[in-house]
Amino acid sequence: MSTKKSSPSLLNKKNDPEKHESENPANEPIKPGFTRRSFLARIGATGIAASTAPLLRAVPVDEVQTPSQAPPVSSQAVPMVLKVNGQEHQLRLEPRVTLLDALRENLQMFGTKKGCDHGQCGACTLHVNGRRVNSCLSFAIMHQGDEITTIEGLAKDGQLHPVQAAFLEHDGFQCGYCTPGQIMSATALLKEPCGADDDSVRECMSGNICRCGAYPNIVAAVQEARRRA
Ligand code: FES
Ligand code: FES
Repeated sequence: MSTKKSSPSLLNKKNDPEKHESENPANEPIKPGFTRRSFLARIGATGIAASTAPLLRAVPVDEVQTPSQAPPVSSQAVPMVLKVNGQEHQLRLEPRVTLLDALRENLQMFGTKKGCDHGQCGACTLHVNGRRVNSCLSFAIMHQGDEITTIEGLAKDGQLHPVQAAFLEHDGFQCGYCTPGQIMSATALLKEPCGADDDSVRECMSGNICRCGAYPNIVAAVQEARRRA
């Protein structure tokens, strides 16, 4: 069963300030004196910026959706509780709503990205009970009682997770749209059986597509994080 095309609001980029800007950053001219990093931090639209938003204060408050902008509750909705980044959220959602849409459309958590919505790009990767999951392929209602961790929950006590720090250090991103998914996959990979060489990392990260082609730096960042782990 597909949920992708059943609700126009799910595809409405006007409701998604991050996706709208990051899909075509060239729409907004970069002012003189801006570096790429400062630009990414300013628009708050992309992976590293999204993943470190609590630290960088990258998303202006007036760009964040308010609960009143959440989709209306359907008559088919059922109550459910989702525990995201340690916090329980009581929701009423249709059983067909994916975990990705529940986060983005109902909890206004935009760090987890929607790319293909078909399980092919890895942009929506998050952790369920410590294991990586493509949230576009999983129904929210299946995850009651699970520990869901998104990119917003990775940094602790004001400190970046070592994988986030390594991505910054090695410039493991360009536009940054794939970066939250890359980082969540890489973080899970630290606990998975994966060979030591770069080819093994490429294989273990092959579910995460980067259309900017930042792969060499992504592999370097993952290897750096593995050395530190
Ligand atoms: S959006 Fe889920 S894999 Fe592409
Ligand atoms: S950094 Fe642009 S898609 Fe990966």
